[in-house]
Amino acid sequence: MAKQVFDSIQDEVKELKKERNALIVAHNYQLPEVQDVADFVGDSLNLARFAQKTEAEVLVFCGVHFMAETASILCPDKTVLLPDLAAGCSLAAMAAPKQVMKWREEHPEGVVVAYVNTSAEVKAVSDYCCTSSNAEQVVRAIPEDKEILFLPDFFLGNFVKQKTGRNIHLWKGFCGTHAIISSEHIDQLKVENPKAEFIMHPECGCSTKSMPYADKILSTEGMTNYVHESKSEEFIVATETGILHRMQKQNPEKKFIAASDEAVCGYMKQITLEKVVTALERLEHRIQVPDEIAKKAKRAIDRMMEIT
Ligand code: 13P
Repeated sequence: MAKQVFDSIQDEVKELKKERNALIVAHNYQLPEVQDVADFVGDSLNLARFAQKTEAEVLVFCGVHFMAETASILCPDKTVLLPDLAAGCSLAAMAAPKQVMKWREEHPEGVVVAYVNTSAEVKAVSDYCCTSSNAEQVVRAIPEDKEILFLPDFFLGNFVKQKTGRNIHLWKGFCGTHAIISSEHIDQLKVENPKAEFIMHPECGCSTKSMPYADKILSTEGMTNYVHESKSEEFIVATETGILHRMQKQNPEKKFIAASDEAVCGYMKQITLEKVVTALERLEHRIQVPDEIAKKAKRAIDRMMEIT
């Protein structure tokens, strides 16, 4: 049969979605054209929640590998597709399960809180999962006398440690994209844009120096909500630049300035519209976590979901 001809790649995506009973979900850092075809755009926590409640049979996960894994753990009956297996995460790669087990042995009373930016294997040897939007809440839900082992992001862990005053040991991992954002450049942007509010993601490598000046420190969802509600008209945004597309689309009258134009996650940008089409056509690449690991990782994820 002749291959159907479409007016645009967007039309092709629409048709394939119907055929496959599929939905497309995209993280806030995705390419603008990928966000624009998505049925849902959000942060790590809301993507997981959306995956859980949707009735679609197929979910095309436009994000990075650990996000698709989390969705697959939460919805084992759905077909979860990652359009490019090269969409990894440098931060997640900084913690291996064996290293985490060794850390646990060194602190036998410690409660392990794993940021969602970890592999399913690491979640399986952790007690709680958290995202940037609920890390503080998760830590506060752990009994006060417990020491906490937080991994792998040092900056998010340190932010939560300062907020809660809890006894938290920090893994020394970081996000290579957020580490590019420098305090010096933010200082310069603040001088050039005196009316702008400065908002930052807690993964920012510059957090220790810039934190006291930040008007808000928020997850990507928190940031998009905040700029919408705020009366300010200009914002300096310290996170991956993909988020500016959603902010600008939802608030065309406001001005958004990237804290660094170089804060671009090469892993997130592996996902293109063409690859979304191929994923839907071939139903690839299916992300499935082995049962034994999924069962253990789900405990940590469920504990988080119960708290927030
Ligand atoms: P959130 O979207 O959950 O804030 O996380 C962003 C991020 O940096 C993922 O690596």
